Amino acid sequence: AAAEKGGYASFMHKEIAEQPRAVADTLLGRIGADGALILDELRIPAAELREVDKVVVVACGTAFHAGLIAKYAIEHWTRLPCEVELASEFRYRDPILDARSLVIAISQSGETMDTLMALRHAREQGSRVLAICNTNGSTIPRESDAVLYTHAGPEVAVASTKAFLTQLVACYLVALYLGQARGTKWGDEVLGVVRDLADIAGAVERVLGDMEPVRELARSLAGAGTVLFLGRHVGYPVALEGALKLKELAYMHAEGFAAGELKHGPIALVEEGLPVVVVVPSPRGRCVLHDKIVSNIQEIRARGARTIVIAEEGDDAVLPYADHVVRVPVTPTLLQPLVTTVPLQVFACELAVARGNEVDQPRNLAKSVTVE
Ligand code: G6P
Repeated sequence: AAAEKGGYASFMHKEIAEQPRAVADTLLGRIGADGALILDELRIPAAELREVDKVVVVACGTAFHAGLIAKYAIEHWTRLPCEVELASEFRYRDPILDARSLVIAISQSGETMDTLMALRHAREQGSRVLAICNTNGSTIPRESDAVLYTHAGPEVAVASTKAFLTQLVACYLVALYLGQARGTKWGDEVLGVVRDLADIAGAVERVLGDMEPVRELARSLAGAGTVLFLGRHVGYPVALEGALKLKELAYMHAEGFAAGELKHGPIALVEEGLPVVVVVPSPRGRCVLHDKIVSNIQEIRARGARTIVIAEEGDDAVLPYADHVVRVPVTPTLLQPLVTTVPLQVFACELAVARGNEVDQPRNLAKSVTVE
């Protein structure tokens, strides 16, 4: 087993380190020299994609967080309404679906019972189902109309890391492909994003190269009781994922919130010394959100929070209110989760180690939940 871990302390350490490669492999062969998406493997004719009038994403756990991020990209690049549903809720509701709805089922293992049942529920109503999956020939892709495989390679650690990043890449590809097929928003902006996607593995690599301060910070928080995570726009699901990782691995109480909701409850939790991780949107483009989150950081710090800020390189506006700053490379806003999630994975992994937990096999959890 030690040899399989390739010298890493755990499969999770190894899988975190493999992310640049996993991201690059998932993009491989799917973007043409002219920047057009090549996803013939989806086998859904462009004419049918043009008929789609609604997208519904179903998934569980970390894959659900990938879906929440996908919503921002799908709506922006395709102008289609998009809903994201926990598979366990969706399967027991009466969702409004028909033949023009495209249902995307995201699953690393391809065997999660609730996600499988959700896709059956969708197909019974005549919807097309596209699986985004990491496991060749597993049940979910076999029962779907089409599949886009993530090429993360086998993921052994129970807590998902590299599969998540590749699920994001796959979601971006699907969103861009839908946009391309439908002729919506297809112009310089999207071509620019495609180019940036091609560089993203390098950006992930850069983040990984500078994680020692994050590990040190994690060790210093081993005795903390609670950690809060704040984000907005695509940073909001990243905050949820950061909190989930901490629960799974460190067995700590952790919550992720949309920063805009701070005044509707979460700020009441802030007390002296409470660690709060804030995922800061880029100051470029949607700078309104950036400014708003900087005032949130100011507000929680004034109430005693220990602020841990994940911010883009060159974003100095956060400095006066940050106890710790973790830098991520500049990326287009919608792609930012590919870099901001990585420090949160490393943070949770190191906290688990510091607390003496079994990183690859957290208590009470299974890699694939094949029962209800
Ligand atoms: C379990 C795993 C998670 C995973 C979730 C969904 O809870 O521990 O890491 O995100 O199942 O799994 P799937 O294989 O459907 O992506």
